[in-house]
Amino acid sequence: MNTYLEANKERFLNELLDLLRIPSVSADPKFAGDVRRCAEAVREKLTAAGLDRAELCETAGHPIVYGEKIIDPNLPTVLVYGHYDVQPADPYELWNTPPFEPTIRNERIYARGACDDKGQFYMHVKAIEAMLATDGLPCNVKVMIEGEEEVGSDHLGTFVAENREKLAADVILISDTSIIANDCPSIETGLRGLSYVEVEVTGPNRDLHSGVYGGGVENPVNVLCRMIASLHDESGRITIPGFYDNIIELSADERAELAKAPFDEQEYMRDLGLKAVKGEAGYTTPERTSIRPTLDVNGIWGGYTGEGAKTVLPSKAHAKISMRLVPGQDPDQITDLFARHFTSIAPDTVTVQVRPHHGGQPYVTPTDSVEFEAARRAFREAWGKEAIPTRGGGSIPIVALFEKELGIKSILMGFGLDIDALHSPNESYGLFNFYKGIETIPFFYKHYALLKKEEVTA
Ligand code: BES
Ligand code: MN
Ligand code: MN
Repeated sequence: MNTYLEANKERFLNELLDLLRIPSVSADPKFAGDVRRCAEAVREKLTAAGLDRAELCETAGHPIVYGEKIIDPNLPTVLVYGHYDVQPADPYELWNTPPFEPTIRNERIYARGACDDKGQFYMHVKAIEAMLATDGLPCNVKVMIEGEEEVGSDHLGTFVAENREKLAADVILISDTSIIANDCPSIETGLRGLSYVEVEVTGPNRDLHSGVYGGGVENPVNVLCRMIASLHDESGRITIPGFYDNIIELSADERAELAKAPFDEQEYMRDLGLKAVKGEAGYTTPERTSIRPTLDVNGIWGGYTGEGAKTVLPSKAHAKISMRLVPGQDPDQITDLFARHFTSIAPDTVTVQVRPHHGGQPYVTPTDSVEFEAARRAFREAWGKEAIPTRGGGSIPIVALFEKELGIKSILMGFGLDIDALHSPNESYGLFNFYKGIETIPFFYKHYALLKKEEVTA
C-alpha cells in the first residue's frame, strides 16, 4: 500500500489540481455549466479509480455523482459522502493567486475548494483506488458526491428518500471537517445545525433626500441596526424568547472531557488579529464555537454603498442572519421563533419581512460505536497517536437527514485545519493532510471490517 501511495503521489496531486481548476460554484447560476462539468470530471475519476456504475444522478438542481464497488454482499458497506461544489470565491482581489488556478506554496495547495471539499473527498477516491490496486477492498463501498452542499443540499434529501435501496450501507464516512493540528489528530463528534433567514425592513415607499426628510421619517437602516443590536444581551445571550428552551445541556463531565482538547487562546487571538474575544458568558471559546448556539449577521446592506457620498434616506434595509444550532434545537422551530420575535420588536414606522433560507439539524456521533472505534484505530495506526474527540462548529445539514432517512450514522473523519481558510480568500489544504488522509482511510476500512467480523462471531 505505502509503495503504491508513494509511487503515485504526483499523479494524485495533479488529478486534484484538475478538479480545482473547475469553478463549481453552486450558489451562482452563472457557474451552472461548470458545476456540471465538474460532476462529469468526478464521474470519470470514480471510473478511473475502479468503481462500477459511476453515474450522474439528475436532480432538480445540480447533479449527484454516484459510484460503487460491491465485492461481497456479506461484507459491511461504507457509504462515502462528499461535495464537489464550492463556495463563491469573492472577493477575488484578496486572493494572492487566482482561486481557480491552483498553486502550491509552502507545502500547501491554494485554491477555492482545496480543502472544502474537493481535496478531502478526493482522498477517498484515491484511497479506494489504492486499496483496489493492492490488497483489495475489505468492505463494499458506495460513493456519493453531491453538488449542492454549500447551498443547503436542497435536492439531496429527495434523492436519498427515493434511493434508500441504492444507498443502503452500514456506515457513512465523511471527510469535510477538521483536526486540531497536524501533531494532534482529532475526530469531530458533532456538527451544529443551522437556521438561516433574510430580513427586509421597509420604511418610506421610496428613497428620500436625507436633508429634506431626515429627522421626520425614521430610517429603516437605523431601525434594522437597532433591532439587530437588541438580539444579544449584555452577557452575550440571544434574546429571542424560547431560543434556549429545548437545548440538551452537556454534563460537567462531558464539558471536562471536551476541555481536554488543547486550545491556546492567545494564539487564537494572534492568528485572527484580535485584541480580545467575547461570547456567551460562562463558556470557553471552544465551547462557544461548538456546543453553544449563535446568531450572526452574515451581510447587511441598504442605501448607498458606492463611491463617494450620496445623501439618501433609504426606503429599505436588508440583512442575512444565521443561527447555528445545537442538539435539542429544531431549525424550523427556531426560524419561527426568530420571525415572531423580529416582527414583534419592529417599531410601527416600518414593516418587516422575514424570509427563511435553508436550514439543517444538528448532529452528534456516539463515540462508543464500532464505527467510531474503527476511526480511532485508523488514526492510531496511521498517525501513531490517539485521536481526540471534539465537537465541531460547522454544519453539514445532510448528516442528520442520512440518519433519519437511511438510519445510518456518520463518521466525520476530516483532515482539514483551521488555517485552511474555508469559505475565505486564499483557501488552502496542506499536502501533508492530503497524503496523510489517503494513508489513513484504508486503515478505517481494515479495522471496520475486522470489528464487524468480531461482532458477528461474538
Ligand atoms: N465543510 C463545511 C462544514 C464544516 C467545516 C464542518 C469545518 C466542520 C468544520 C461545509 O462545507 C459547510 O461549509 N457547511 C455550511 C452549511 C451549509 C448549509 C451552507 C456551513 O457550515 O456554513
Ligand atoms: Mn464542506
Ligand atoms: Mn463549506
